[in-house]
Amino acid sequence: MMKTRAVKFDVEKVLDDKIIGTGYNTTVNSYLPNDEQDAWVAKCIEVDNIDKLLQIMEEIVLSFSCDHENFNSIKGYCVIPTDKTNFKVYLKLQLMRENISSLCNKKQGVPEQEIVKILHSLISGLEYLHRKGIAHQNLKPTNIFVSNNGDTKLADISSEGYADRRDRLNAQGDTSEIIYLPPEVLDDSLDQKELDLYKADIWSLGRCLLDLLLCSYEGDVLKEQEGQNEAIKKGFFLDVQKVYSSDLSSLLQDMLSSEPNQRRSAHEIKHIIETKLFAKNEPKSFENEKKYKSQSNDLNVNETEKKPWNLGE
Ligand SMILES: Nc1ncnc2c1ncn2[C@@H]1O[C@H](COP(=O)(O)OP(=O)(O)O)[C@@H](O)[C@H]1O
Ligand SMILES: [Mg+2]
Repeated sequence: MMKTRAVKFDVEKVLDDKIIGTGYNTTVNSYLPNDEQDAWVAKCIEVDNIDKLLQIMEEIVLSFSCDHENFNSIKGYCVIPTDKTNFKVYLKLQLMRENISSLCNKKQGVPEQEIVKILHSLISGLEYLHRKGIAHQNLKPTNIFVSNNGDTKLADISSEGYADRRDRLNAQGDTSEIIYLPPEVLDDSLDQKELDLYKADIWSLGRCLLDLLLCSYEGDVLKEQEGQNEAIKKGFFLDVQKVYSSDLSSLLQDMLSSEPNQRRSAHEIKHIIETKLFAKNEPKSFENEKKYKSQSNDLNVNETEKKPWNLGE
């Protein structure tokens, strides 16, 4: 298969287009190039030092190397210096229909069959990254998208290490993002170099999934942001189980285990979904299983043998 190449893109053409979102030091514009049919976004990242620029360049290189239907990889970039140490980095990405926080906000509840389908897509994307030796390190609802044709995709591998993000979010008092950081990251007595970055991703993905399950949840256990990890630890799942199957609840419980080595790997979770949850919810998806398996085999990399890149260091 032809690999997508890293391309510079002409950012001048997009600057006047519509702003569709903003993040920490970022502005996201949608645009439609004259010569192309697909709509894109140009994400502008403001960078105020060279080290940060190098981190972002690493992120770009890693993202370029990815080619999977459940990962929205960077398709182009452009760096504009604004003075000696300040830059604007523009990233070209496929325009997505919505991020999954808007599914959570619909509040009608997401049926189990839909949750299982979404989880299978996301864990396939994550398994792909982990097999390539890439830990995502920034899984949160605004980095998980639904495309225009309904595919669910991960996006935005982090170029900021966990410890730096935790300290920044704490300084900003931003609890809305802290809740997606796994407990071992929040425990500042732990040596962050010892973190299992793959298992950290599993927890964060489980936490995003919990948001989807909670759309229809009537209780108040997790309504308050403070102490959410405590509520998760204390068996909140017993309540989730009333609405969703015990297989799905226990898979989620496993992903959200406070002990990283008790969490299953992305590969194992994908297998459980395909053998247990699809069997119950969507038998036809076994056809996809074959397709995904052949993609994973192509990579020919043993997940357990590869240490993840740690972009934040
Ligand atoms: N490719 C995209 N298509 C549609 N919306 C996007 C895309 N990339 C980012 N966004 C939206 O723009 C906003 C800012 O995104 P971003 O700069 O990545 O910051 P963050 O992920 O921290 O929110 C988010 O709401 C995100 O969902
Ligand atoms: Mg993002």
